[in-house]
Amino acid sequence: MLANGDSKASLECWRLDHAGQTIVLASRQRELPEVAYCGESLPAGENLKALAESRNRPITPGTLDQLAPLSLLPEEGKGFPGQPGLRLFDAEGRPALTQFALVEAENLEHGLAFHCQDSGSGLVLTLHLTFPAGSRVLETTTRLTNRGGTDWLVSWLSVPALPIDGAMTDIIEYAGRWTQEFNPIKLPISRGVHLRENRRGRTGHDHFPAMIFAEPGAGFTRGCAAAIHFGFSGVHRMLVEGLPDGRRQVQAGYGEMQHLAPGRTIVSGTAFWAFSDRGLNGLALDFQDYVRRHIIRFPDDKTVRPVHYNCWEAVYFDHKVEELMDLATRAADLGAERFVLDDGWFGTHELGRNDDTSSLGDWFVDTRKYPDGLQPLIDHVETLGMRFGLWVEPEMVNLDSALARQHPEWLMMPAHVKQVPGRSQYVLNLTNPAVSDYLYERLDWLLRTHAIDYLKWDMNRDLTLAVDSEGFPLLIRQTEALWALLERIRQHHPDVEIESCASGGGRIDFGVLRHTHRIWLSDSNDAHERWQMQNQAFLFLPPEIVGSHVGPRHCHTSGRRLSMSFRALVAMTGHMGFEMDLRELDAAEAETLKRYTAIYKENRDWMHKGRQYRLDGTAPETLAQIIVSPEADRFFVFAGTLDVPGDETTAPLKLTGLRPEARYRVKLVNADEIHRSATRFYKNPLIEPGGLALSGAALMQAGLVTPFPFPDSMWLIEGRREELP
Ligand code: DGJ
Repeated sequence: MLANGDSKASLECWRLDHAGQTIVLASRQRELPEVAYCGESLPAGENLKALAESRNRPITPGTLDQLAPLSLLPEEGKGFPGQPGLRLFDAEGRPALTQFALVEAENLEHGLAFHCQDSGSGLVLTLHLTFPAGSRVLETTTRLTNRGGTDWLVSWLSVPALPIDGAMTDIIEYAGRWTQEFNPIKLPISRGVHLRENRRGRTGHDHFPAMIFAEPGAGFTRGCAAAIHFGFSGVHRMLVEGLPDGRRQVQAGYGEMQHLAPGRTIVSGTAFWAFSDRGLNGLALDFQDYVRRHIIRFPDDKTVRPVHYNCWEAVYFDHKVEELMDLATRAADLGAERFVLDDGWFGTHELGRNDDTSSLGDWFVDTRKYPDGLQPLIDHVETLGMRFGLWVEPEMVNLDSALARQHPEWLMMPAHVKQVPGRSQYVLNLTNPAVSDYLYERLDWLLRTHAIDYLKWDMNRDLTLAVDSEGFPLLIRQTEALWALLERIRQHHPDVEIESCASGGGRIDFGVLRHTHRIWLSDSNDAHERWQMQNQAFLFLPPEIVGSHVGPRHCHTSGRRLSMSFRALVAMTGHMGFEMDLRELDAAEAETLKRYTAIYKENRDWMHKGRQYRLDGTAPETLAQIIVSPEADRFFVFAGTLDVPGDETTAPLKLTGLRPEARYRVKLVNADEIHRSATRFYKNPLIEPGGLALSGAALMQAGLVTPFPFPDSMWLIEGRREELP
């Protein structure tokens, strides 16, 4: 990456070059810089000044005499007609109409920082744009310091605003609800503001905080796209605005009022941008790589993702040690490597957790269910060669608990307003040090006195009326206090992994992932739904951190009945686990599960370092992806079918991400699952014992034809690079 200044006369330009991309920033008369270009690399000697000047737009009748700059922080005080990047008011409601001037552009090791000042208010601004070492993801953040004497209330501080190229006319973003996360919606960028705001105290099931901008017709393997993700769970606001002059801008930030007293600094939060001219897959490659290098910190020796067994959908709150031991034995036999004891293990002498109405907060082992504590179960699990994980939900409390009775003042419960319960529970105010200390003490005790190397950290309700005891907003501070608590645990228990779960995928973002190791994508263990969600979430998250479990034959949340093969293959493409009553398995199902678990274990090493691409579908019911090893010498194609095919036979599926000149031997791993009532005849070398060998070019340009599928099924194609003689 290179950051060059060209400071001739009153136009100054800088460029950020990184891995095939160039961003050119320009400042006129020491105004806040604006993006003059953002796209594929420009030649090293490009005349930046000429480029910036060539972007000057005409002034038209009926408009101001100057086109207000769409700077990195558009300002109302400069006549910007759209959404300003900063909004702040004094105690009497007077807005600060800032006119920031650039003071200094600083070359950072991996980016640029623009230091700016507004002499009227004494406000100081720093706009950061960085490509952290080796990454193709652009991190952007804004800092605002009050060096003046006025107390400001800041209602909006955006990360540096970036323009969206005119060719990208579509927004792709997410809707959803519980068990239906990552439901993509597409809409045009139009005139005016399209705003997504989340004030739920967690990212929510309904809007993973991201927006993708794409040119029409862009698919997974082709077309230009850019994506922004805002890395914060507590509260987010992101907007794309089409201005009357045709320019379009994107902003993101917390969206919670912040108090900026003299001498204080506040930040906007961090946005993460990826840009691709290789379709949406290009975004996935960059984000996945970024998360691996810069976000997730696994304990040193724990990069191999063990197969989980989670007992939730087997026993729910009905914990019986003997039964759990039996489930653990069965799980180990099928190949599980970690047993996770879910909700229901805790309570006091008086009250246990037998349903979801009580005991949250009482983090003691329920001696009615576990007369000798958790140790006998842990010992059993360890004898089976498995590790032990435990469910907790530290941020929450039931009114029916010893904790709530002892410390009603610890609840997030504003005076004189009635707080709304969610799943019969309330939220603890973590910004109160006594609360965080209590939770730390309980978790530390659990981790010190038991061989637990994994916490499933749940969070099952929105934060409503989120203010502290004095009535000040809490969403930002509560999230920061959570991060501090997670960090404290990690510091003292560095071998413990933590999963971020919030009724499934209610809390997923790069902010919480900096402090955790895995996300629970959804409470839906329905492979049909999971396959769709996972094929969206992969755009931002690498497979090894996306928990994916083989659920019950008869799905508990959707009622669908799905084959074991389909369930297991879907789970294999994430961090695999089982979550069902294993006593329901018949011999054939157990055999199938064992087989795919073994394949997962044999291949997870390269799959979890590899590149994951979605394949552009051949038919609407097809949903396929390929995972390619880092050296592109191994791959698996997971060719799923979610509905009854509309055509009379299958069409070739074109692969991607291979070396065109390499020769690969490919074969259908699960040819034994061809159903004669779907495929009558299929004479294709793909199902011969040795498969067939084709160049990467042929596999990508001509493709492979799989047998005719039943709905909710998956073909697994394996490819290995062959040495040429
Ligand atoms: C919600 C989680 O998403 C589930 O997996 C399970 O852990 C329950 N909570 C337990 O209450």
